[in-house]
Amino acid sequence: MYICSLCLIMSLWKLSESGFSFHCPVQSHWKHRAENNCGSVDGYFCLFNRNEHYFTEFCRKPPDFEAPGQKLIVAGSSNGTLQGADCNSDFYQPFKFLSSGNSRCVYEKSYCNGEGLVTSSNGTLENDRSCRCDYTRGYNFINQPKHRCYCVPSEEDCSCHLKICPSNHILSPVRKRVSKSNINSSTNEGDDIEDDSVNSVTANSSTSSTTTAKKRKQTS
Ligand SMILES: *[C@@H]1O[C@H](CO)[C@@H](O)[C@H](O)[C@H]1NC(C)=O
Ligand SMILES: *[C@@H]1O[C@H](CO)[C@@H](O)[C@H](O)[C@H]1NC(C)=O
Ligand SMILES: *[C@@H]1O[C@H](CO)[C@@H](O)[C@H](O)[C@H]1NC(C)=O
Ligand SMILES: *[C@@H]1O[C@H](CO)[C@@H](O)[C@H](O)[C@H]1NC(C)=O
Repeated sequence: MYICSLCLIMSLWKLSESGFSFHCPVQSHWKHRAENNCGSVDGYFCLFNRNEHYFTEFCRKPPDFEAPGQKLIVAGSSNGTLQGADCNSDFYQPFKFLSSGNSRCVYEKSYCNGEGLVTSSNGTLENDRSCRCDYTRGYNFINQPKHRCYCVPSEEDCSCHLKICPSNHILSPVRKRVSKSNINSSTNEGDDIEDDSVNSVTANSSTSSTTTAKKRKQTS
């Protein structure tokens, strides 16, 4: 049975003379192309061929799948072995990869390129990139994101605005939260702790130096 399906793959290997200019059908054309070439959506594959470095289309049943974070690729043109492979770094796959309808990981990662926005995390194979406002330059979120320290552009509005601060105050998105979480330090999340060390900068030294300067003036 297994041997036979391998023969089938080989004989149906190249539907069209694919080459470097070949692209898998876009979503809206997928069904049409699949039905025309293989008789059904489930029987049609269009995947990246690791050995030949371009996409190849072929017919085979049943459809195949891979775990989240992975896609399917053609691993050997000689015997048509399919194999799981990590998503490219600019793509992610949060749920099971299915061969019918997909040639690569499903979502392209967002970019942190709005005004004042910087990358907080590059994401994972299964998750989008996250962004934060550059508070070292005085930016803060316009709308508080779901997670206070970072924002996921594919899920929410990540716009930043420039906040005008008192002169002796360094803007810190964590300060408020520190006092809150002090009530129960055990409820701290891991990423909160990370940020605390970055943001524990206070402007105390400058305040005290201005007060001593004032004092000195009065005595002289
Ligand atoms: C198919 O080819 C790969 C290497 O290209 C090899 O590792 C694998 O054993 C082969 N499978 C079969 C069934 O021949
Ligand atoms: C994200 O990836 C880019 C390019 O690989 C790298 O320069 C940057 O430091 C990464 N950022 C984070 C927060 O990991
Ligand atoms: C803090 O944690 C204790 C138990 O660890 C709990 O009894 C108490 O209700 C918590 N307080 C707050 C404000 O969450
Ligand atoms: C800030 O300065 C005040 C007095 O100028 C001092 O009592 C306080 O301990 C300082 N706090 C920190 C965190 O250094």
